Amino acid sequence: MSLVEKTLRKLQESGRSPSEAPAGMAPRQTARSESEVPRAPQEHAHGPMVPIERGTLRAAGLLAPQEDLELLVRQYRKIKQPLIARAIGRGAPRSPKGYLIMIASAMSGEGKTFTAVNLALSMALEKDLRVLLVDADVAKPQLSHVLGRGDAPGLLDALRDPGGDVEALICPTDLPTLSFLAAGRSSEDATELLASTRMEQLVAELGQNDEQRVVIFDSPPLLQTTESPALARMAGQVVVVVRAEFTPQPVLLDALKTLEKHPSVSLVLNQSIRTVTSAYYYYGYGKQHAVPAGEE
Ligand SMILES: Nc1ncnc2c1ncn2[C@@H]1O[C@H](COP(=O)(O)OP(=O)(O)O)[C@@H](O)[C@H]1O
Ligand SMILES: [Mg+2]
Repeated sequence: MSLVEKTLRKLQESGRSPSEAPAGMAPRQTARSESEVPRAPQEHAHGPMVPIERGTLRAAGLLAPQEDLELLVRQYRKIKQPLIARAIGRGAPRSPKGYLIMIASAMSGEGKTFTAVNLALSMALEKDLRVLLVDADVAKPQLSHVLGRGDAPGLLDALRDPGGDVEALICPTDLPTLSFLAAGRSSEDATELLASTRMEQLVAELGQNDEQRVVIFDSPPLLQTTESPALARMAGQVVVVVRAEFTPQPVLLDALKTLEKHPSVSLVLNQSIRTVTSAYYYYGYGKQHAVPAGEE
């Protein structure tokens, strides 16, 4: 049964609209790849220090208002666990390239950047992880601007320089377990660069340089760009953000079709209208069962 059919069936069986779908997640497959390259434990991040200022993030709409924060923290705690399990093999088999996590969505405005930031902050609380947040939305590098790295060298510069060391462009943040790679200086060939074999090589390097590293990619919309499906092919896990009452179902299905062959796709239902702005429901399918939102 295809990914799309499974999604539809789940939604139909529950007899609910997507905004009412139960929270939880599960992979389609968690097989371990024998060919996966073991990664050496090293710590990198050579660029200038990037402060993570909550006020700035909040002003940019990338962090929930103070009154919603507690709910949000609980929800992200639940969302991150299965992703971490597959990323580093904690309590579950490690997924091939599971440490490369792409945050995707069909269209813009669904909450990819919001999700990438909040997931990264939540994962950075884990003592045995080092989180690298990458702004791969090179056409709209909002995250890089908000973090003060709008004109700084980053991903695109690393892609332009085949012999270059991408680690040199990664910035530490004032959170010891979180680092950041900006989108980099744009050029007309940005789309081609992101879909290039150099990108594949670079993405592999990011994971192989540090075995405790989880890489979270903020990305462009799946249906409006060609580089986004290409990035999905390089990622070990894809999290598709679906904004409740916003994304038309045929559009979501078209987006899922671009991921049909991907071994690990999960859906996050964002901004349910049943609660306030930070409300978050999480929905997945596969071997594991969905967990109702709000449960600890
Ligand atoms: N869970 C959420 N709670 C509150 N606001 C959100 C949430 N998710 C997204 N938003 C808001 O929705 C808008 C679009 O989100 P964004 O992450 O920029 O989308 P995308 O990156 O997919 O284009 C932003 O203004 C952001 O503040
Ligand atoms: Mg965005």
